[in-house]
Amino acid sequence: MTNLIIFYSRTGITKKVTELIFENLSSDIEEIFDEKNRSGSIGYMKAGKDAMRKKLTTLKKYDKDPSSYELTLIGTPIWAWNMSTPIRTYITENMDKFKNVAFFCTEGSSGGEKCFENMSVLCDKKPLATLELNAKEIKEGIHIEKIKEYTDKINNI
Ligand SMILES: Cc1cc2nc3c(=O)[nH]c(=O)nc-3n(C[C@H](O)[C@H](O)[C@H](O)COP(=O)(O)O)c2cc1C
Repeated sequence: MTNLIIFYSRTGITKKVTELIFENLSSDIEEIFDEKNRSGSIGYMKAGKDAMRKKLTTLKKYDKDPSSYELTLIGTPIWAWNMSTPIRTYITENMDKFKNVAFFCTEGSSGGEKCFENMSVLCDKKPLATLELNAKEIKEGIHIEKIKEYTDKINNI
């Protein structure tokens, strides 16, 4: 299986998780960047508003073509119990190119399940695997085992 990992991270938590997934899975990887400044408390508030309204944004140019891979893993932070706006934009721009998808997310405490349902609808595909990690699990180191289970599942497909 050829794998592509696509992710967005506003404050580095999803990026840290993505790097651990990447260590366990033979794959190409691409970070998605937003043209819109999402930093600080104003960036936070605008991000919440954009996510709730299901708005799209403008992404910085990205290179990898998901149609060249058998599986695209898509990672997002949870914003307002949903996917982040950059990942909503990425999926919208590439929805016809995915052969198979897997999802992962990081969150403060909740929203992953609903987010995955919405991502699945937007991709028009059921994910082959999902991984939801909250702040407590990451703080306590539980994420390491959960990431291993997730990548083992994908490696065994
Ligand atoms: C605009 C915004 C909305 C958020 N909404 C939620 C939420 O609904 N549920 C939750 O558990 N965490 C929520 N969070 C927290 C993030 O999902 C969490 O901190 C995540 O791990 C951040 O990942 P990152 O560092 O990769 O950006 C929100 C964060 C932001 C910026």
